[in-house]
Amino acid sequence: MGAVVLGTGSCLPGKVLTNHDLEKIIDTSDEWIRSRTGISTRRISGKGEETYKLAETAARRALVASQVSADEIDLIIVATMSSHMIMPSCACFVQNELGAANAFAYDINAACSGFLFALDSGEKYLCAERDKKILLIGAETLSSRTDWKDRNTCILFGDGAGAVVMEYRDDNCGVVASNLFSDGSLWKLLYMHNAPSYNPDLEQPDNPGAHILMEGREVFKYAVKAMEGAIRELLDRQNIELSAIDLMIPHQANIRILNKLVSRLGIDQEKVFINVQKYGNTSAASIPIALDEANREGRLKRDNLLLICSFGGGFTWGASLLRW
Ligand code: UT7
Repeated sequence: MGAVVLGTGSCLPGKVLTNHDLEKIIDTSDEWIRSRTGISTRRISGKGEETYKLAETAARRALVASQVSADEIDLIIVATMSSHMIMPSCACFVQNELGAANAFAYDINAACSGFLFALDSGEKYLCAERDKKILLIGAETLSSRTDWKDRNTCILFGDGAGAVVMEYRDDNCGVVASNLFSDGSLWKLLYMHNAPSYNPDLEQPDNPGAHILMEGREVFKYAVKAMEGAIRELLDRQNIELSAIDLMIPHQANIRILNKLVSRLGIDQEKVFINVQKYGNTSAASIPIALDEANREGRLKRDNLLLICSFGGGFTWGASLLRW
């Protein structure tokens, strides 16, 4: 093992958007949203709360919790699909804001699985470069990538950021293993266009703008099966029983997906951390936000076995095991 989490942090924008607020802009109801998704509120960025600003605040909190200064960081990875610019990366903006002058920085986009994929890349970097420290961030402002007239999607998403600081330690804590997957053939079930092309030959047909489009029912079906498969395979390979897991932090997409996953796995509901009711689906930010909340609530103790899993556009999905 080796890649251990030194500290966590998160940042949620101040504005709370309730289901009742949504009732005023689309044909929906608080009852429908809560019963189909489990979501009651989500946070929405205001001025000055761009993705990189949420990421910076989450990162500062993680650095304080880790007692690490920004100039000790060697690598910053931001998992996002909603940076305010395509170039430079969100990670470069964060590096600049933090004054992390010794870090190289880049973004990854694996949609809602972004943090899990970043964790895997970060772990492999730390295992190869053992005297380094890294900052992994999941950050999104999906309010800027949502069609607020589409009731199928706009009720689901929210803004926020979460971060962890990690380093290599030669003990039995840290990332145990990950099991990651992608299936690009299913992209049409959950996707988002880019801005229109300046090259007419590359213009995508029927580009309605850069916002999320989704076949919700199909995504639902794949999500449950895919996460269950990734978790079972990961545990089998490590020869670990589900009963040995102390806490499971799934991507917070929808309470019905989570309930179905939990019942298929047969894991004790009390071991599953859920905050989707407060923040909705914050995509790549959902796992690190939940991780920070669980950590601050004292739900993670040294030597605890933590299971993380996610599913998102691509499709991308997977699971990771960490010894805390
Ligand atoms: O990280 C992965 C990201 N994606 C997801 O997690 C999404 C996974 N999918 C889901 O969470 C669910 O499919 C949804 C919550 C999006 C939708 O729930 P559903 O139970 O699959 O509903 P549905 O799409 O089958 O729609 C049922 C009905 C439809 O009306 P008709 O055709 O039966 O008359 C929809 O038009 O509900 C209607 N509907 C709504 N009604 C009130 C759809 N959205 C809404 C809404 N308010 N916001």
